[in-house]
Amino acid sequence: MMRTHYCGHIDQSLVGQEVVLCGWTHRRRDHGGVVFVDLRDREGLVQVVFDPSARESFAIAERVRNEYVLRVRGRVRHRPEGTENPELPTGALEVVGETLEILNLSEPLPFQLDEEQAVGEDVRLRYRYLDLRRPRMFQHIRLRAEVCRTLRRFLDERGFMEIETPILTKSTPEGARDYLVPSRTHPGQFYALPQSPQLFKQLLMVSGMERYYQIVRCFRDEDLRADRQPEFTQLDLEMSFVEDEDVIRLMEEMIRHLFQEVLGVSLPDPFPRMRHAEAVSRFGVDRPDLRIPLELVEVTDLMRGVDFKVFAGPANDPRGRVAALRVPGGGALTRKEIDDYTRFVGIYGAKGLAYIKVNRRAAGREGLQSPILKFLPDEAVADILERCGAEDGDLIFFGADRAAVVNESLGALRVKLGQDRGLVAEGWRPVWIVDFPMFEWDEEAQRWTPLHHPFTRPRVADVEELERAPGECKSQAYDLVLNGSEIGGGSIRIHRAEMQAAVLRLLGIGDEEAQAKFGFLLQALKYGCPPHGGIAFGLDRLVMLMCGAPSIREVIPFPKTQTGNCLLTEAPSPVSEAQLRELGIRLRKPSA
Ligand code: AMO
Ligand code: AMP
Repeated sequence: MMRTHYCGHIDQSLVGQEVVLCGWTHRRRDHGGVVFVDLRDREGLVQVVFDPSARESFAIAERVRNEYVLRVRGRVRHRPEGTENPELPTGALEVVGETLEILNLSEPLPFQLDEEQAVGEDVRLRYRYLDLRRPRMFQHIRLRAEVCRTLRRFLDERGFMEIETPILTKSTPEGARDYLVPSRTHPGQFYALPQSPQLFKQLLMVSGMERYYQIVRCFRDEDLRADRQPEFTQLDLEMSFVEDEDVIRLMEEMIRHLFQEVLGVSLPDPFPRMRHAEAVSRFGVDRPDLRIPLELVEVTDLMRGVDFKVFAGPANDPRGRVAALRVPGGGALTRKEIDDYTRFVGIYGAKGLAYIKVNRRAAGREGLQSPILKFLPDEAVADILERCGAEDGDLIFFGADRAAVVNESLGALRVKLGQDRGLVAEGWRPVWIVDFPMFEWDEEAQRWTPLHHPFTRPRVADVEELERAPGECKSQAYDLVLNGSEIGGGSIRIHRAEMQAAVLRLLGIGDEEAQAKFGFLLQALKYGCPPHGGIAFGLDRLVMLMCGAPSIREVIPFPKTQTGNCLLTEAPSPVSEAQLRELGIRLRKPSA
């Protein structure tokens, strides 16, 4: 037997017993003729002592260096009094090494595995297999496995079947660019990697599978951020003969069960729900972080009549908005801090960040301090203070622009202020966002685009109602937001061919294009497609939140950088001329 116990599992019950351990040398110390080796495996550390009296093993122990792979046979004993290490779970014990084998050597590592040592992410990713030796990273990967196991068990018990769908396939529109794979056997033709299994899971419902799920990789060529990777994992599922209420209830139960099982956390029952319009109006975004107590306040109506063009312009534009954000105690913000926040909202297209400092509200204008005060009449100022509930010592920020710019910039500012000022409450705040508009108008392209995907069912009686006022049409979609992160989204789907065709038409996808892209789906809908709906969770995001990790890269064993590189393998990389020729591909600009 190679080993009898994990190092981290050595406990009082084993005192006096012989054990065989395998692991890595975390640290080796020589102490007055005695060699100590902290032996580490995935379960933890234990101290092994080699005494010169055991001549052979002692000689080997002297040759041991950090990260050497060892196999030790020895006896467990209490550490001598006064030498216990209360920091370590096994710190009251040690193993007296009797025999020692060096199973493998190690060169000095490019970085220390100690958690305290700050190492650049580039180095960590280049040597990811070493980075994953760190206990914290191991915990992330273990928690991820536990999450998958718990979700699978929950769904298996409820009659869901795990079914695989193709990776080499055709484009599925989820709003990002496709990754394309050239076909050797069909020169000039390409597979697309799936942005999600959306169309296949709907086909499985046509097939009568009724309850499908899959823990599945999705591929999206989009701009990356801390919570986005070009390939990521979804818990994807679909059910037949359900309404939105059925999906929402079951998924809530699943997420509550998950948090209870894995973290011992009780989430609220039921989760609160919020209409999309309310989320955007109060928080600027459709994924509000409800742990932060700040809210946007509508002042558009108050600014219609003022002379200050910066505010009056957007206030009188049907697509404009003027909103305020009160920061309790914000009066203490310095000029520089305000300038920094002004630059910050600039990232989101805001042209400025007006503010009023409320020093002493009772003192009227005298008690206020602001670069815009001179442009605003007394009444407007009083109305603003009233509506914001301003108190002495507060600061009120303003955004005035197209509503989309105000919402995005103040929405992001709200989160930033919450973090900077320590206003983020502890705990878990899930919320369902519901009642999404079906479409939004794309100014640039001058056409409707879907808020979710084009297979989402609109909340209308028939095609006629849909076509009468697409902009007012709501969809049967629902997103689950947790602490400001969109962890899942889904909908009831269109199951009738004529409705699907109408939605595609509204999106400017002509019959011919629709046939070419989704002909197989349109046809399938004609052969007895049941009403169905589902959802997909971003597994990486969910695990990131559950680990308290700052980025999804921390919970993915081999992630890519912000620029989509794998530093470990150096992908993407050039291919040989011969490979390109075989695929019938000639590059426009040969790589250097
Ligand atoms: P959606 O596009 O909303 O829906 O994706 C579902 C969830 O996947 C996660 N997610 C991502 N995670 C990491 N990196 C990314 N680049 C990334 N993009 C999305 C999010 C998101 O909520 N087919 C539909 C689902 C359905 O309708 O059933 C879909 O893919 O957490
Ligand atoms: P200005 O008259 O351009 O100097 O702007 C006066 C104040 O209004 C400054 O504090 C600007 O930061 C702010 N401001 C300018 N444009 C906007 C805008 N679109 N939204 C909010 N504040 C703005």
